[in-house]
Amino acid sequence: MSKVFEMDHPLIQHKLTLIRDKNTGSKEFRELVKEVSMLLAYEVTRDLPLEDTEVETPIQVTKSKVLAGRKLGIVPILRAGLGMVDGFLNLLPAAKVGHVGLYRDPETLEPVEYYVKLPSDVNERELIIIDPMLATGGSANAAIGFLKDRGAEMIKFVCLIACPEGIAAVQKAHPDVDIYVASIDEKLNDHAYIVPGLGDAGDRLFGTK
Ligand code: PRP
Ligand code: URA
Repeated sequence: MSKVFEMDHPLIQHKLTLIRDKNTGSKEFRELVKEVSMLLAYEVTRDLPLEDTEVETPIQVTKSKVLAGRKLGIVPILRAGLGMVDGFLNLLPAAKVGHVGLYRDPETLEPVEYYVKLPSDVNERELIIIDPMLATGGSANAAIGFLKDRGAEMIKFVCLIACPEGIAAVQKAHPDVDIYVASIDEKLNDHAYIVPGLGDAGDRLFGTK
């Protein structure tokens, strides 16, 4: 069974409250999503391997640590996942970025694929899928499936808000994928929106409706 990490850092929780606020406009919403994403990236990369090196300070040569060079890939689920990319790239500038385009059919609530473009060596990378919302889990499961179909073996899923139904769905379909989330909310409503959630993440990011 995969692990679920709820990241309750005070800065993340404070910014998430502002993100939830229906009076927060698109400009501020985008800035806040980027800032929270940066903080999430910090937490998600806690287990990156290090190796020993030597560095010469102005005082003397000393042993020190550097990242052991694990190849990373960031995979936003379009559209709303795009809002999290810059925050992740700020901390992980060498990561490659793949894109998975999915939208939820409003009638069936099933994810519909419209674009997939991934790094060619996706099977050699640790992949971090990013999407603000984990609702029914349909989009997350489809995205994870695309990556696994191309040979990916190390996958993490990162979101701002999840609900128990979505977490259970991902854990059932992909028990090897750990989930990193800023808040686990109460439930899904009849339209498969997360309660209390933040509304429609894509519309709030891009000012559409
Ligand atoms: C939202 C969100 C997730 C999906 C979550 O995208 O960004 O991708 O819904 O719902 P699920 O867990 O039930 O699949 P949406 O389908 O609204 O598309 P958009 O990002 O293009 O607006
Ligand atoms: N997608 C969203 O953007 N918000 C939700 O609450 C659920 C799915």
